[in-house]
Amino acid sequence: MLLWSKWKTRYGAERLKRRIDWSGPLPQHVAIMMDGNGRWATRRGLPRTAGHVAGMHAMRETIRFCHQAQLRYLTLYAFSTENWKRPKEEVDAIIRLVHEFMTERTLGELNRNQIKVSFIGDTAKFDPDTRRIMEQAVHVTRFNMGMTVNFAVNYGGRSDIVRAVKTMVTEENGSVSIDAFESRLYTSGCPNPELLIRTSGEKRLSGFLLWQSAQAELWFTDEMWPSFNEALFYQALYEYQCRKVRANS
Ligand code: IPE
Ligand code: IPE
Ligand code: MG
Repeated sequence: MLLWSKWKTRYGAERLKRRIDWSGPLPQHVAIMMDGNGRWATRRGLPRTAGHVAGMHAMRETIRFCHQAQLRYLTLYAFSTENWKRPKEEVDAIIRLVHEFMTERTLGELNRNQIKVSFIGDTAKFDPDTRRIMEQAVHVTRFNMGMTVNFAVNYGGRSDIVRAVKTMVTEENGSVSIDAFESRLYTSGCPNPELLIRTSGEKRLSGFLLWQSAQAELWFTDEMWPSFNEALFYQALYEYQCRKVRANS
């Protein structure tokens, strides 16, 4: 059964891949709101934390196929400033997954694929062990020249904006410009995302990249995050391309 569904996804992905014009408009930066882990689990009679574990596997696969699709930047909304309000056990389980994900094996794979890791958000709120793991991932992948993966953790778009305004006003002696402001956002140095994906059927921004997604195409799927796959990714790319071609014609 599992093999059959894997084969179907692969076949679907290949078919969609062939429909994309690889010399046509494509996003350099895709941002994803990985939503629906809890519902994926409860619908299967499992605890929500099992959904987060499955979500971590989907995230690993997503990084792989985005790298294969030669994407330049991938930003993944993993934990919002609002998510601290969840039960402590759930928050702890999500943080434990950072430890489980950022192993030597994962870092080795990221390095082999020239993938650079970055964290956007206020990481100071995490415990020292978690911060150390995040810093290490950034450090060991810092010279990689391929895709950059930004993990948005304790990220909130409004805090991002307020923080950038504060530093801009202090450092620029009160002078204000779009460039000076953007260079103080967590995403400084990355182009703004051209495509923003949210899974789970919800159609909210939930504080994600509020400034940066001003011109982004939005793409939604009813699939829960653990069920996200390569075929859905290529479908999003294909629809992005159709919208861009239409807009330019
Ligand atoms: C997204 O899935 C993961 C995080 C927010 C950490 P959810 O945990 O929000 O799952 P649902 O939306 O409740 O199903
Ligand atoms: C958004 O999902 C944040 C992440 C995907 C990490 P949430 O499930 O936390 O957002 P709301 O509460 O539905 O807006
Ligand atoms: Mg949710």
